[in-house]
Amino acid sequence: MKKRILVYGHLNDSQLAQLNQDFEVIIFPDLTSIDDTAFRASLSGAHGLVGASLVITPELLDAAPHLETIATISVGYDNYPVEELTRRGILLCNTPDVLTETTADTGFLLIMAAARRAVELAELVKRGEWTRGIEPKYFGSDVHDKTLGMIGFGRIGAAVARRGALGFGMRILYSNASPKPELEAQLGAEHREMKTLLAEADIICVTVPLTTETEHLIDEQEFAQMKPSTIFVNIARGKVVNEAALIEALKMGQIQAAGLDVFEQEPLSPESPLLHMKNVIALPHIGSATHETRTAMAQRAVDNITLALRGEHPISLVNEEAWKPA
Ligand code: DGY
Repeated sequence: MKKRILVYGHLNDSQLAQLNQDFEVIIFPDLTSIDDTAFRASLSGAHGLVGASLVITPELLDAAPHLETIATISVGYDNYPVEELTRRGILLCNTPDVLTETTADTGFLLIMAAARRAVELAELVKRGEWTRGIEPKYFGSDVHDKTLGMIGFGRIGAAVARRGALGFGMRILYSNASPKPELEAQLGAEHREMKTLLAEADIICVTVPLTTETEHLIDEQEFAQMKPSTIFVNIARGKVVNEAALIEALKMGQIQAAGLDVFEQEPLSPESPLLHMKNVIALPHIGSATHETRTAMAQRAVDNITLALRGEHPISLVNEEAWKPA
């Protein structure tokens, strides 16, 4: 009997055909809740799950006694109870590397757009309010030659910093990562305690993963240490930042502007004060959302689950401790 995979993320036809060769595949194209009745009913016979964005709970795992592998179409895995999966011997696979450059592009898009007030000024043009030369009150800030402070210096953080150092002549500081001598040599990056980085950087970009240690890593105290001219960018996870403290910092002029791809609650509530702030650029969590990259991520997830359900080591395994070679 073929093993069963439930797919609740977008796969293209050739990726679905690849899975169908070896497995029974059930697709849930519009799944927005793990409580969906049909999804629940299929879980009892499921060996694999492929998807993204849903929070997977121990209670859901109880309903899937044959589950062997989850392949998330994301690099981040804060939606998964990793220890619980490991305890149950369920493999969790993710999609690192293939999205690094695209997500770094998004980081730089937000840095540039927030510093140069691109969205606010583009809206002014569309409203027909560009009637004469732009006055100083609409001027932005330079990005080139400034100091870029990276909070998190993993693959994506390093890729943002590379753009800054090599493309824009920026000085790079980094914190919340072990020292990276290679990147220090390549980019002239300097390691700093976070407190020092917050006070020194002109532009701050957050790329740390969300864990119990990084939840609300950037809070009231941290905003208080930044310069009033700081451009603050978050492409990591919303919960790394205390959003209420960010809103207050923006209101009080403790920082100049924010470029945000992620929020404490997603989708962002229509009630959020962030939506009414001219100095905020809010994107709908599109860090990796290009045709090329989402296709590559989905392919990585398909390859991961195919290998894992065949008993072979997947390409990207989060919980190595759960791996038991045949
Ligand atoms: C990731 O892959 O983790 C991106 O943030 C998309 O969710």
